This record gives sequence, structure tokens and C-alpha cells, in this order.
Amino acid sequence: MFGLFSFLVILLVCVGYTHGSIAWKATPFNPPSVPLAVRSPYSSAWLSQGAGSGSALSAAWPQFWNGDTLGWAGFVNVDGVSYNFLGAPAVANTTFKRATQASLSWTSTQSVFVMTAGPVQLTVTFLSPVEPSSLVNQSMPFSYMAVNAAPTDGKSHSVQVYSDISAEWVSGTDSQKVNWTTTTGDVIIHQAQLQNQTLFADSGDRIQYGAAYYSSLSSSNTTWQTGQDIVLRAQFIKNGTLLNTQDTNFRAINNNWPCFAFAHDLGNISGQSDAVVFAVGHARDPAINYVTSGGTMQSRSSLYLSQFSSINDAITAFVKDYSNALSRADALDAEVNKDTSAISSNYSDIVALSIRQTFGAIEFTYTPGNTSDVMAFVKAMSSSESISTTDVIYPAWPLVLYTNAAIGKALLLPLLEYQATGQYPNKWACHDLGPAYPSAPGYPKGNDTQMPIEESGNMLIMTLSYTQKTGDKSLITTYYNLLDQWAQYLVSNTLEPASQLSSDAFAGSLVNQTDLALKGIIGIKAMAEIASLVGDSSANSNYNSIASSYVQKWQQMATTSDGMHLTLQYGNSSSWGIAYNLYADQLLGTNIVPSSVYDMQTQWYTSVENTYGVPLDTRNTYTLSNWEIWAAAIMTTTSARNQLINYVHKYLASSLNSLPASDWYDTATGKAQCSTGNSCQPFRARPVVGGHLALLVASASNSSTTGASITLGATSTVTSPTTATASSTSTTTHSSAMSIRDPRTILSTICMPALVMVLLHLSL
Ligand SMILES: *[C@@H]1O[C@H](CO)[C@@H](O)[C@H](O)[C@H]1NC(C)=O
Ligand SMILES: *[C@@H]1O[C@H](CO)[C@@H](O)[C@H](O)[C@H]1NC(C)=O
Ligand SMILES: *[C@@H]1O[C@H](CO)[C@@H](O)[C@H](O)[C@H]1NC(C)=O
Ligand SMILES: *[C@@H]1O[C@H](CO)[C@@H](O)[C@H](O)[C@H]1NC(C)=O
Ligand SMILES: *[C@@H]1O[C@H](CO)[C@@H](O)[C@H](O)[C@H]1NC(C)=O
Ligand SMILES: *[C@@H]1O[C@H](CO)[C@@H](O)[C@H](O)[C@H]1NC(C)=O
Ligand SMILES: *[C@@H]1O[C@H](CO)[C@@H](O)[C@H](O)[C@H]1NC(C)=O
Ligand SMILES: *[C@@H]1O[C@H](CO)[C@@H](O)[C@H](O)[C@H]1NC(C)=O
Ligand SMILES: *[C@@H]1O[C@H](CO)[C@@H](O)[C@H](O)[C@H]1NC(C)=O
Ligand SMILES: *[C@@H]1O[C@H](CO)[C@@H](O)[C@H](O)[C@H]1NC(C)=O
Ligand SMILES: *[C@@H]1O[C@H](CO)[C@@H](O)[C@H](O)[C@H]1NC(C)=O
Ligand SMILES: *[C@@H]1O[C@H](CO)[C@@H](O)[C@H](O)[C@H]1NC(C)=O
Repeated sequence: MFGLFSFLVILLVCVGYTHGSIAWKATPFNPPSVPLAVRSPYSSAWLSQGAGSGSALSAAWPQFWNGDTLGWAGFVNVDGVSYNFLGAPAVANTTFKRATQASLSWTSTQSVFVMTAGPVQLTVTFLSPVEPSSLVNQSMPFSYMAVNAAPTDGKSHSVQVYSDISAEWVSGTDSQKVNWTTTTGDVIIHQAQLQNQTLFADSGDRIQYGAAYYSSLSSSNTTWQTGQDIVLRAQFIKNGTLLNTQDTNFRAINNNWPCFAFAHDLGNISGQSDAVVFAVGHARDPAINYVTSGGTMQSRSSLYLSQFSSINDAITAFVKDYSNALSRADALDAEVNKDTSAISSNYSDIVALSIRQTFGAIEFTYTPGNTSDVMAFVKAMSSSESISTTDVIYPAWPLVLYTNAAIGKALLLPLLEYQATGQYPNKWACHDLGPAYPSAPGYPKGNDTQMPIEESGNMLIMTLSYTQKTGDKSLITTYYNLLDQWAQYLVSNTLEPASQLSSDAFAGSLVNQTDLALKGIIGIKAMAEIASLVGDSSANSNYNSIASSYVQKWQQMATTSDGMHLTLQYGNSSSWGIAYNLYADQLLGTNIVPSSVYDMQTQWYTSVENTYGVPLDTRNTYTLSNWEIWAAAIMTTTSARNQLINYVHKYLASSLNSLPASDWYDTATGKAQCSTGNSCQPFRARPVVGGHLALLVASASNSSTTGASITLGATSTVTSPTTATASSTSTTTHSSAMSIRDPRTILSTICMPALVMVLLHLSL
């Protein structure tokens, strides 16, 4: 009896661990959507996993981050038998099989699929470089797909590899007309663009100018062709080569679907082949339109164009650099994994899914003729069309600090410089630089979305944080008066905030918001530090004393009458919320909030958890994953910290969702949240997931002062901040994380022996 019972228990546990319906080995887990080629707001391809059983690489088309279909097909011929390994093409009058997916694994920079095509195994590596130590390299909006083939039966096989993209990479409106050219050389470059180009116009998340590019190294065994999808694919399926011809009948995207293809003949292979490398992306020049003093609009180019005479030259260098880029990516992955593993293996997984997504929303630019004039702009992606939204940069700030604080300078400069010109009429910091990415005209009428305390606090906190991290005082000296103006606004407004929006705008305005007031107070304290750093001792002591007196009053107004937790709103003891701005106090090392508050909140969060985490506040069951992780970073016990991390992990690994990670989700159901109404449009692909790196960023007291400044090419190396999360207020220690990450490993190392033992026991 006992034997049978334990057999059943172990069987149940072990079957549960295999994630039931997903047919391939997923390491570390099957994410909601797999990043394939994610480099910029307009170079962004994903493989949606849908709910439940997921999608193999050969079972569905890749999608743009907003869900638009992206034609991206791949075939491999093995001894004359054709297998589709990428995309879901139908090709009339041909026969081919679908390669089956054996595994998917992913890191911070790569998504790797192993596909079985008869006696040959393909390893398809989607590498989206993350290059924080070279902003020039980071600014290249291109990704790699590399295909290696290897026989699995020890025999020699004749192998040809094919891939194409469609003009869906140019626009989401398939009736738009496109034209194209192919440039041959040691790298072959297909280029396709809208015939009707509209500078700086974004329509339905797709940019209306520039071009999509598909490129590959040329060898004697490479052929190429442009033309109708089924014509190109049938040509390859039947013969294994293409015809090196251009279709010049320019037409609409969906008019006999023009495609842009390559084929590589690997010959007879008996071992692992060399990688066949493709590069894909969308590029444009100029990239950004930015307002300068007097309202003059300035055209800014992508930073990499400072190093290359044309986009084609850049692509040629990019394609040839694949093996070095792979080494750099492996090194970055290893470093990130080392730092995150010191927290927990679940934390490693969350961070690995977040880094490409954040960088995929940021574009680095310069003004032609002045390579010192480097600015970065960010697209909020799914939550708004705005450019350089201050409270989108703020949640992502931990990623900036961890990877290279010079990125922070590049992100803050457009906001600081614009507001210093005096063209923004309000006394507080602006919400963003314009309603329509990639144009940044500012708001001369001051009629942007108003989040006065939120954005003023954010700017002061981030500017000080950058200065602390780098020792570079250029921002605080150049923009001192502006920073002081925002601090004064906070002095007058933050202690008892009027009804304002916080960053969590979907929750609406509220008067006397506890966490918003705290942000403002930390902002005032940050100004005290800024004043001290520039030697303004009277401002330093003035702001210091205001911050101290405010924080005492705040603590009284913000704590419930029974002293159990902070409220969401002063005076309402039945309200509470995630007080994520406490993290800023720790990050800056300002420590104005007493440690008893951290202890109190630690206790409280562990008492109000739902299935997938702590709700954002008492108004709803939804939360934001980045604030969940910010909260984890300030927990005073390891178990409370790990519990919050595990909730976000559980949500991301749940197989309930299908979008590029949505930060906004329901803690009860684990599903991505969307505003109520007929069309459910959840957040997706937002850069705010950079906030998931919060536990990697040491508090100010531990940070190095490396003096990062923005220069071209290699700037500072990737910083490797200490992984400590403990601050003076925290007693967090690192637990020894479980190192078995792969469910199959668990199955084979624990479950199988256990089952065998129980079966043996039963048979005795
Ligand atoms: C497929 O073959 C049929 C019969 O030969 C022919 O009528 C049709 O045009 C072919 N279709 C394509 C797309 O080649
Ligand atoms: C394609 O269209 C663009 C924009 O109208 C135009 O500048 C370009 O010359 C065209 N290229 C070809 C090959 O027709
Ligand atoms: C070109 O596109 C713009 C919007 O991007 C549109 O307003 C205009 O009508 C289009 N022109 C033509 C000729 O299609
Ligand atoms: C078929 O492929 C061979 C090489 O394998 C090539 O010589 C020939 O030109 C191709 N024929 C067609 C019709 O594509
Ligand atoms: C080109 O193909 C031939 C035979 O098809 C093969 O022997 C050779 O290794 C291939 N070269 C490259 C660079 O793939
Ligand atoms: C590849 O192997 C096949 C079968 O063994 C043979 O017929 C063919 O000539 C070989 N091709 C090359 C390029 O070596
Ligand atoms: C180049 O840009 C830097 C940084 O914005 C600026 O300080 C400098 O004055 C500019 N130089 C020229 C020649 O415009
Ligand atoms: C802000 O004011 C400008 C100029 O009056 C107007 O064009 C724009 O539509 C306004 N924007 C918003 C968001 O109200
Ligand atoms: C905001 O809080 C303060 C301090 O508790 C209180 O005096 C004031 O009435 C509150 N404002 C509103 C509108 O509730
Ligand atoms: C206090 O907060 C609770 C929870 O958010 C809310 O239901 C209630 O309406 C609030 N009370 C007042 C007076 O605003
Ligand atoms: C990791 O997160 C999962 C939820 O996805 C949870 O079941 C598991 O216990 C966590 N692992 C550790 C070691 O905490
Ligand atoms: C940047 O990319 C180029 C190739 O375009 C490569 O040669 C160089 O090593 C990279 N620089 C850094 C710092 O990674």
C-alpha cells in the first residue's frame, strides 16, 4: 500500500514537472514570447508561444512586438528532402516536411532552437547583441540568425539551407507598395522599403520610412533571389539553389508577396557544419527629430552611422563580425548569469528575459558632424506613442546602472537639455518629449500628461544616481538651476500631494498618495546631495533639513493607526500598496526612511500575497512585475525577497500568456492585464522590465566611481557591480539557490531513480 501510494505521489510530482503540454525541452522555461531579433522599436521579431502548448519555430510565423505577422521562412534540404524549420509557409505543388523542435534555450542575448530534420539536427541561434560597452555597436538595429547543421546518424548528408523575409518587415499595412534592391559583394544585402516614405512618421507602431534589410555572407555556394514567396520557396525545395535574379515588378506587400531570399549549399557534411549567418533588421536615417533652443528641429542619426559611410557598410561589418559578436554575447551572458545566480536561479531567468526587451526600446543617436553629441531616446512601446517618457526610464534605471551608466546620461540628456532651454513652461519636470515617437518636439504649451511630483522626483533621483555611479559631475553642474527648480516644486507640493497621477497612470489620480509623496521627499534629499557635490553648502543644509522634517511627518501620515503597514493614501488605514519608491532611498544610499519601515513592509507584503504576487495596491488585483522586483530588493528577509522573485517567475513561466513580457498582470489569474473595455490591449515589450535588474545594483555606498563618459566605440567596460542587495536597513543574505534549472534534469536526476526504486520495492 505504502509503495503504491508513494509511486503515485512521485508520478504525479514528476509528471507535473514536465510542463505537460510543451513538446520540447525548454531551458529555463517556455516564455510567453521568444525574442528572436530584438534591437530597436522597429527591429523587433518574436515567436509568440500562445497559451498552453506553445509554438515550435516551424509552427507559426514570427511576429512584430505588436503582433503583426513577419514573414520569415527557413528550409533545409537534406539529401533532397526539404524540411521547413522557420515560419509556417505553405508552398503549392511542393512536398516538404516540418522539422520538429527538440529544444529551446535562451539567455540574455540568445534564443537557441534545436530542430530535427530527418537525419540532421539544426541549431538555429537567434542572437540579438547587447553591447553596453560600445554604444556604437548597441545602436546597430540588426540581429543575427545563425544555422549550424550536424548529422545525427554518423553518416554523410548533402545539406542546403534557405531563408527569406517578406516585405512585412517594412510595414504592418500589407496594401502599401514597396520596392527593393539587392547589392552583391562579399556580403549580399537585400533591401526593401515603402515607395511612399514619410519622414519621422510612425503608423500602427511601424515606421513609415527607412528600409528592412536581410543579408548574408557570400561564398561560392551562396545563391539569392527576390520574388514571390511561393516561387522562391518552391525553387529551393525542388532544386536546393536560387537563381541570383531580381524581380523588378515592384508592388504591394500582399500582392504575390515579394520575398528576399538566400540559399547556402553546405555540400556533404559528416560533422557539425560552419554557421550559415543571416542578419536582419530595419534601419533609417535620420532616426530622430529633436527640438533644440528656439524651437529648431534637429535631425539626429543612429550613432553607428558616425563610424560607417552607409547603412550597407555597417551591415557588411556586422555580418562579418558574427563570431566575435557571439563571443562577446557569451561573455555578457556568463557575467549576468554569475551575478544573478548569487541571488537565485529563478532570478537569473527573469533577468535573462528582460535585457533584450529593454534595449529593444532604446535608440542611440548623434548629430552628423558632432560625435560628442550623443543622446538616447526610448519608446514606451505598448503603453503610449510618447518619446523619452521620464517614468518609463525610471523603472528601467537599474538596467542602465548595471550595464553602463553612460547609457543613463544619454537617456537623461534630451530631457535635461530641452527643459534647460526654457521651452517647457511648467515648473515641474515634463512627462515626455512629444506624443509621437520618433519626433521629440517638446511641449511649448506645457500640455503633456501631468505627473509633476512623479517626474520631478524621477529626474532628481536618476541624475544623482548617475553622478554617484560615475563620478561625472557634468549633469549636475550644467543643469543645476533646473534641478533646483524641480526640488523647489517638490518642497511646495510633495508632503501632501494634490490629486495627481503617479507612474501607474492606469490606476487614475489620487490625492495624498503615500508612495508618490515619498518619491518627492527622496527627490528633495537627492537635491541636498547634488548641492553638496557641487559645493553649495547652504542649499545642501536647507534641503537636508526639509527632507528630514518631511520624512518624519510623512511617516506619521503614511502609517496606519495600528502601525501594521504604509497606506496607499494618507488617513485610509484600509488601503495599502507596494511602496516601491523606498528602493530609491536605498539605491541612492540616502537612507532617510527608518529601517523599521522596511521591516514593517516586509511583514506586510508576506501577509497579502495572491497566487502570482502582491497586488500593486488595494484598488485592484493587478500588479507591475518591475515594482514587484523593486519591492523584493528592499525586503529585509531572504525568504520575503525570494518569494516576490518566485511570484514573478511563476507568472512568466506559467504558459498562460503569449506576448513579449507584459509587466502589468493580474496577481490572481496570472494573466497579462488589459484596460477594461472591448479591445483588450495588454502592455507588452515595454522597456520597464529593465527594473527587474533592481537586485543587481548595489546601493550608492558600494558603487564604484569609474567616471563613465560617453565616447565613441568602447567606452567603459560592462560594470560588474557587487551583487549584494543588503543595505544598512536590510539583513538579507543569499540563500544557496537550487542549481537544477531544467525540468528534464529534475526528471532524470530525481524522479527516474525515485520511480525505479519504488517500482523495485513494489515488485518485491
Ligand atoms: C500547381 O500546379 C497546378 C497544376 O499543374 C497549376 O495549375 C498551378 O498553377 C500550380 N500552382 C503554382 C502556384 O505553381
Ligand atoms: C524605391 O522608392 C523610394 C522611395 O520612393 C525611391 O527613393 C527609390 O529610388 C525607389 N527604389 C527603386 C529601386 O525603385
Ligand atoms: C503617403 O503616406 C502618408 C502617410 O504616411 C499619407 O498621408 C499619404 O497619403 C501617402 N501618399 C500616397 C501617395 O500614398
Ligand atoms: C539546380 O541546381 C544545380 C546545382 O545543384 C544548378 O546547377 C542548376 O542550375 C539548378 N537548376 C535550376 C533550374 O535551378
Ligand atoms: C561548397 O560546396 C561544396 C560542394 O557542394 C563543398 O564541398 C564545400 O565545402 C562548400 N563550401 C562552403 C564554403 O560551404
Ligand atoms: C555527396 O554525396 C552523394 C552521395 O554520397 C554523392 O552522390 C555526391 O556526389 C556528393 N556530393 C559532393 C559535392 O561531394
Ligand atoms: C558637440 O556636442 C557637444 C555635446 O552636446 C557640445 O558640447 C559641443 O559644443 C558640440 N560641438 C559643436 C562644434 O557643435
Ligand atoms: C497641446 O497643445 C498643442 C498646441 O496648442 C496642440 O497642438 C496639441 O494637440 C496639444 N496636445 C495635447 C495633448 O493636448
Ligand atoms: C491630505 O492629507 C492631509 C494630512 O493628512 C489632510 O490634512 C488633508 O485633508 C488631505 N487631503 C485630502 C484632500 O484628503
Ligand atoms: C480606503 O481604501 C479602500 C481600499 O482601497 C477603499 O476601498 C476605500 O474606498 C477607501 N476609503 C476612502 C474613504 O477613500
Ligand atoms: C522558482 O519559481 C517557481 C515558480 O515559477 C517555484 O515553483 C520554485 O519553487 C522556485 N524555485 C526556488 C528554488 O525557489
Ligand atoms: C563593435 O563592432 C565591431 C564590428 O562592427 C567590432 O569589430 C568591434 O570589436 C565591436 N566593438 C566592441 C567594443 O565590442
